[in-house]
Amino acid sequence: MTTERNAFDAAVAASAERVRASGRQPRIAVLLGSGWHGFVARVREPLVLRYAELPAFPAIGVEGHTGELVLGRIGAHQVAVLGGRQHTYEHGHAAVMGGAIATLAACGVAVLVQTNAAGSLDTALRPGALMLLNDHLNIVQASPLVGECGTERFVDLRDAYDPMLRAQAHAAARRAGAALHDGVYAWVLGPQFETPAEIRMLRQLGAHAVGMSTVPETILARRHGLRVLALSMITNMGCGLDAEAALSHAQTLAAARAAAAQTVPLLEAVVAALELT
Ligand code: HPA
Repeated sequence: MTTERNAFDAAVAASAERVRASGRQPRIAVLLGSGWHGFVARVREPLVLRYAELPAFPAIGVEGHTGELVLGRIGAHQVAVLGGRQHTYEHGHAAVMGGAIATLAACGVAVLVQTNAAGSLDTALRPGALMLLNDHLNIVQASPLVGECGTERFVDLRDAYDPMLRAQAHAAARRAGAALHDGVYAWVLGPQFETPAEIRMLRQLGAHAVGMSTVPETILARRHGLRVLALSMITNMGCGLDAEAALSHAQTLAAARAAAAQTVPLLEAVVAALELT
């Protein structure tokens, strides 16, 4: 375990050094999930690092994720935009983004803005809608902190999604005239989609959207003291909630791309409006 920890710390230190050597000092990180990659074109003065150059970053194998870290500016903020994540469903390890999040923290990033694609559990949230997470349900009951030592692993998740950042995001959406819903995100392991009975269960548990990501990274970010904001793009109704054709990753990506003309400018407005304390 100690050897593993030392290797992890060395990989994080080397990755942070690579970012520092670029001369950029990102304060906000934006993690792009399926369908959100058009956001990269909004980054001013972009400088691209491949995840492969950053030993603490994961290899990216899911279609729709680029595996690049883009350093640059959104509005007045220095940002680091992560083109994709590894998912727990790829191997069963919930801590797979731990090195990337630790690197961001080591570089002085204070805020993590996450994005994802999700299925709706709420008939008022239709495909194309955007939901700001106000809480989550860790249905998987897996943690990226298993195996860590020390008191930092006992992370408080009361305001996992930062209330002040959420208020700033809502204000930015109102100014842009864009609808931004609020709701609870349920993390399921995947990669299979849910059954109709599972969708009924998740609705009864109080979730508004369901997806296969985001929650491990939120826990990791809180562990490192980063404030978190997270946005779900609704790409489909949960299985059984309407008479849609069969769900697939291709359908998720197609729906996300169709909504990108609205979602990407809104994400830019939200990130630009965040106030760092
Ligand atoms: N379920 C789980 N994850 C998802 C879905 C869904 O319906 N849509 C997009 N990601």
